[in-house]
Amino acid sequence: MAIRTAIFGHRGYPAQFPENSLAGFDYALAHHIDGLEFDVQLTKDRVPVIMHDEKLNRTTDGKGFIKDYTLAELRQFHLDRGEVIPTLAELLALVGDQDVQLNLEFKTNKVRYPGIEKIVLDMLDTVTLARPVIFSSFYLPSLKACQLLAPDEACCWLTGKPVVNAKAFVTNEHLEGLHLKHYQADIPVTERIWTVDEPAEAYELFQQQVAGIFTDDFMTMTRLRDRMLLVK
Ligand code: G3P
Ligand code: MG
Repeated sequence: MAIRTAIFGHRGYPAQFPENSLAGFDYALAHHIDGLEFDVQLTKDRVPVIMHDEKLNRTTDGKGFIKDYTLAELRQFHLDRGEVIPTLAELLALVGDQDVQLNLEFKTNKVRYPGIEKIVLDMLDTVTLARPVIFSSFYLPSLKACQLLAPDEACCWLTGKPVVNAKAFVTNEHLEGLHLKHYQADIPVTERIWTVDEPAEAYELFQQQVAGIFTDDFMTMTRLRDRMLLVK
């Protein structure tokens, strides 16, 4: 049996590197990861940067909101191991034309960052990636804004709750699929599941041929998938 599930590094490779760091992304790319998931927010001077939290407090030696610092000011702060907060431009330069599936999450569910979608899409227009980016957000209006600017892009809604009438929802909202916290069986919809760090859960999802999983430890999940392919 082939397994068609793509393994995405959730914020890169946080099991071994600072989350959303260039070092983690670089390692994952060098080890031929299928996909990279990362979170995008805007600085005060409207530069897209990659960080999960709206505030610096948890993952850096700084404090306060990203939106209140210019990029130059943000650069004084560091993630673990002296890593800087990456810009989207830096990640895109690192990726280049490597064959990896990017999933760009607009982190707009708490701070809205008006106009972030156009800034990001304009930046993506300046590069040539091997595959079209998958966009996602918990905040549906961000996906709507993205679709208005670029109707052919793949947009997926993120949610931690069960989606009722999933097929109709995806069709009506012109989505490519759903990025779900909990797998939903028997819905004829592209599903990618976060965050899958238990091998037993990954095993089940691989068997279900789910389209993708997001994991903090892509090496473990890749080894598991490789073993399953051997015994099938
Ligand atoms: O995109 C999957 C996952 O990243 C969504 O949750 O909070 O880790 O961004 P979060
Ligand atoms: Mg995310």
